[in-house]
Amino acid sequence: MISELGNAMVIFGGTGDLTKRKLVPALYNLLIEKQLPDNFFVVAVGRRDKTTEEFVEEMEIALKEFSRNSYDENIWKNLKSRIFYYRLNFDGTEEYLEFDTALCKLEHKYETRGNRMFYLAVSPEYFGVIVEKLHEYGLASDNGSFKRVVIEKPFGKDLESAKALSKHITHAFGEENIYRIDHYLGKEMLQNIMVIRFANAFFEPIWNNKYIDHVQITSTETLPVEERGGYYEKAGAMKDMLQNHLLQLLALTAMEPPVRLDTESIRDEKVKVLKGLKIYEEDEVNDYVVRGQYGPNEEMGFNGYRQERRTDPDSDIETYIALKMEIENFRWSGVPFYIRTGKRLKEKTVEVVIQFKSLAKILYLKELDEMMPNQLIIRIQPTEGVFLRFNAKKPGQTNDIVPVKMDFCQNCEIGYNSPEAYERLLLDAMKGEKTLFTRWDEVEYSWRFVDAIQNAWKKERPDFPNYEAGSHGPKVADDLIERDGRRWVNE
Ligand code: BG6
Repeated sequence: MISELGNAMVIFGGTGDLTKRKLVPALYNLLIEKQLPDNFFVVAVGRRDKTTEEFVEEMEIALKEFSRNSYDENIWKNLKSRIFYYRLNFDGTEEYLEFDTALCKLEHKYETRGNRMFYLAVSPEYFGVIVEKLHEYGLASDNGSFKRVVIEKPFGKDLESAKALSKHITHAFGEENIYRIDHYLGKEMLQNIMVIRFANAFFEPIWNNKYIDHVQITSTETLPVEERGGYYEKAGAMKDMLQNHLLQLLALTAMEPPVRLDTESIRDEKVKVLKGLKIYEEDEVNDYVVRGQYGPNEEMGFNGYRQERRTDPDSDIETYIALKMEIENFRWSGVPFYIRTGKRLKEKTVEVVIQFKSLAKILYLKELDEMMPNQLIIRIQPTEGVFLRFNAKKPGQTNDIVPVKMDFCQNCEIGYNSPEAYERLLLDAMKGEKTLFTRWDEVEYSWRFVDAIQNAWKKERPDFPNYEAGSHGPKVADDLIERDGRRWVNE
């Protein structure tokens, strides 16, 4: 059956990690769930010489390792019959014309009506040149069909370069056809944040500075930088995680209710949060932001960052950051948002903690030195769910009070196999649904915030390494929150 979604998915950087770990498994899972149109095919574009057969074989091995659904020969047979490999120099000239001809032939065979989704999974320095060539050689001209471009992060390295890139891409494709992917937005529980907030009578009325003491957003990883040292040396935790994923998570947590649930209304509210972020003055940066880099842990057999492959042995790049952020609006004035992210830590956790203000020290609280405050914890990874901590009477003859938990674990149910972020995002891009992609102004305001910090950092050499691989992170991060009389929640 020919479907409106039918399209050619052209992956630039097709031989890279993302294709085998995420994109091909996502397509495979979509096929299992009968979500992919019949008129669909994939062309992986790379600079290496290789045949389609060789490429497909590599993908089969990867699929067995990375797919959330187990390997099914028939499904794979179906998918592999639609995968092709094409060798191309990204900065070539006439080669793009030949590539167009090859694409047209496949389009004819698969009846995709000329719909094309170009997926840029390449190093950022190639974004501009590829887009330019696609435009120049007519591969991106719409001719009554859709031509979309999906771009992986980082979108620029600062505000200035992001603006230049945006200009380039908009010229070739138009903002309406640009899909800036942030895979965090494809995660089930991130999408659930809006539902939790705006579909429950008991949360929204207290979601403000009158009742909330502070918010913590954590994304910690146990993995080191692995094979991505070259990229990470230019990105660091700030550009790899904060500028995109964590600021999106913050925006969803803090945004005002949108007037409607359509794409632009939601993006309008997210951007207001980013616009409202307090931008630090240069001499304030150290009071609000701390950074860290992991050192070796011999006992656990872990390298330090400086010993990882393709990193500078004298590197100053941060593998950890913690920040105290403020949103300058009526809802959040006076409520700090503590954010932290880092690599090679003790645990893998992504979560948002909303900590409510304590009650007055009367009645039950009068006698107690310390009382566990009420907390709402939205767990995004590795478990998905919501968990509420409140105080209750300890059973027995006394009036002792103990904190208890109410736990809703979404992926603890047997058989529950939550779709991967990329599945949702690829399908949305095919459908032309842009809510879970970032709009240019969101990118712009996040860079404004990040640039102020990076500029201050350039002037001061950090004292690295300052945390041990496999630990909870640097002491400076604990100091940052503890000097406000608060503590990180490490569940
Ligand atoms: C990617 C970063 O965007 O997100 C990686 O480039 C990081 O460095 C990854 O490991 C984390 O994603 P997740 O989904 O595992 O939290």
